[in-house]
Amino acid sequence: MITFNKDSRFFHLSTKNTSYVFGVYQMNHLIHLYWGAKIPEENVLTHYLSTQRMSFSARDDGFTAGSTDNLTMEYPTFGSTDLRSPAFDCVFADGSRVPQLRYYSHKIYDGKPKLEGLPATYCEEGDKVQTLEVELVDSVKDLHVFLNYSVFEDYDVITRSVRVENRGEKCKITTILSASVDLNSAHNYDFIHLDGAWAKERAVNRQPLFHGKQSVDSKRGATSAHHNCFVALSEHNANETMGEVYSMNLVYSGNFEAGCEVDSYDTGRMFIGINPFEFGWTLENGETFQSPEAVLVYSNKGLGAMSRIYHKLYRERLCRGKFRDIERYALINNWEATYMRFNEEKLLAIAEKAKDIGLDLFVLDDGWFGKRDVDNCSLGDWVVYKEKLPNGLSGLAQKLNALGLKFGLWVEPEMVSPNSDLYRAHPDWALQTKGRVPSTGRTQLVLDLSRKDVREFTINWLTEILSSANIEYIKWDMNRNMTEVGSLLLSDERQSEVYHRYILGLYEILETITSRFPNILFESCSGGGGRFDPGMLHYMPQTWTSDDSDAVERVYIQYGTSMCYPYSAMGAHVSACPNHQVRRTTPFEMRGHVALPGQFGFELDLSKLTDEEIEIAKQQVKEYKEFGAVFHRGDCYRLISPFESHISALNFVSEDKNTVILLRYRTVAKPNEPYAFVKLQGLEPDAIYVRRDNGARYSGAFLMNAGIPWEFASTEYQSAMTVFDKQ
Ligand code: GLA
Repeated sequence: MITFNKDSRFFHLSTKNTSYVFGVYQMNHLIHLYWGAKIPEENVLTHYLSTQRMSFSARDDGFTAGSTDNLTMEYPTFGSTDLRSPAFDCVFADGSRVPQLRYYSHKIYDGKPKLEGLPATYCEEGDKVQTLEVELVDSVKDLHVFLNYSVFEDYDVITRSVRVENRGEKCKITTILSASVDLNSAHNYDFIHLDGAWAKERAVNRQPLFHGKQSVDSKRGATSAHHNCFVALSEHNANETMGEVYSMNLVYSGNFEAGCEVDSYDTGRMFIGINPFEFGWTLENGETFQSPEAVLVYSNKGLGAMSRIYHKLYRERLCRGKFRDIERYALINNWEATYMRFNEEKLLAIAEKAKDIGLDLFVLDDGWFGKRDVDNCSLGDWVVYKEKLPNGLSGLAQKLNALGLKFGLWVEPEMVSPNSDLYRAHPDWALQTKGRVPSTGRTQLVLDLSRKDVREFTINWLTEILSSANIEYIKWDMNRNMTEVGSLLLSDERQSEVYHRYILGLYEILETITSRFPNILFESCSGGGGRFDPGMLHYMPQTWTSDDSDAVERVYIQYGTSMCYPYSAMGAHVSACPNHQVRRTTPFEMRGHVALPGQFGFELDLSKLTDEEIEIAKQQVKEYKEFGAVFHRGDCYRLISPFESHISALNFVSEDKNTVILLRYRTVAKPNEPYAFVKLQGLEPDAIYVRRDNGARYSGAFLMNAGIPWEFASTEYQSAMTVFDKQ
């Protein structure tokens, strides 16, 4: 998997289908040589090094390549001859910058170490995983930078992270990216990223790269609904099934930047990491800093293959705990059914119907604590609202359990309402900048999780509440962007650390609570999908994908989300019509067909459904129980994109390859249309597949090459789920 050639001084990292090569060059500069489809190790690759280009910055002290500005660098710094954007930068005690990092040593070993205080992918006994640790040193300042690479051979993944050890005088890190890769011929590539806003998260965006720097980022304190911490560069003609794609995803839930800087020679510096904007971290002598992990995936079989690599890795080696490997709960959530206007009687009426249609879990959403009837108070006062729930959480849980349902609860632990006893007692516990009035968002402030006392308070009340009743699921929400970010406890110099310290604090709380309560299923949420990232998935295996529960909107949102996140991570519910976000009315069947591949549930007042709707709901729950494993552990193939056509389709192939499920959606009515055929993917060409609804027999080759007709009337909001069994 990882070799070091002592003669050429090249590191060769190889997965099942890819190679990643870099080496130690003149004057111990670390240069990048190759990332792409697998190549033999013996290839020397020196032809990648060009010394022909002119540069306005060059050294004449024995570096015959003249300038690092012209080379593909492995972990670039700024201020010497490479004047492109750096992966690492810092200010030393004397005010100087210009860090100069040179190769010093390396280690190769089996397995993969944990990242101190941060979420990361991991390996298990028997996995083919190796790690390379390259030590770079700035010998003038005694600053040591360790580049970590872990190769997941069978998963076709390489992860990268960076650790800094300061053995010299105090310095302040201002940029520390997790990965930076210089790729030649960037003019051949498109820049793909996922953007959106509240209720329209992760739309697929794609434009050709241009000369100069292009990036997406978050300065909102969380990954955000606006951009996701994912970037891909694909050949212009790459599609779902063919073409080269380079991609990076950051295992982090805070401010990030991801992008590419294309220089005048068409070399693209692709990068991802903590957003350098407003970031600064002081390291005293002897202190260390650990960057988050970047996950690097290369595919020469298009975007579909790239996504399936992420899906499998995240399902199996990012998510943890007992819920990683078992089918999770089909649930009813009362949010869109009642909002905060509920009492025990109303909840139980919904719960009875939930039991009737076969659901497993009842989730009580916002409004159960303090005096919370509207969203302008009580966050922080995690005491049961007795007028609504006279028997408390345990009384409600007992009644639900007696009905045969599990009980789940909504919490928003990172927040405090100005109108709360907690805020009145501890106004200093909110994030704030000295001398500035903190802005509210949804009438709430953000708790300063960089503070130990706030973290202890949070862990304590959560432990108390979770132990107070038979709670088997938690929805962990976070409903605003961060503003006036600062901490009253930190020194002036360290205020630039608050964003990252907040995230480290959050991870500490999540690690403590999720390991203290291993039998609780946790789902994360941030005004819907505002913090849908691999960092959160490490602690909580599923995320509420979007507050937009409209079936048509969800076709787009879930398609975009699936670029790097598996359907097993996407909370998806059938909700009421007209839909509460867009007022659209879609058939009950379509709402089911859209929600079924995700972590399925209902979010409407079940007691108001007609008898006919109850029968459909029962059928949907039955299908979910039967096919959940196909959606959540099988392979997903995106066949037709909703971003390109008003009809879209995807198919799933079960882990044992015996079951194939085709989902088709039509979002717009069009008269007199051309014939449309859907060609499936991922089947065995010679196997015979029998269609369950009509017994028709097809070879895999036929389904994949000829396809089956669209088959529906041209009215809007059509959908179908078609199951095939391999003979
Ligand atoms: C957020 C969530 C919703 C719901 C509300 C409750 O918006 O995304 O699902 O839980 O908060 O206030």
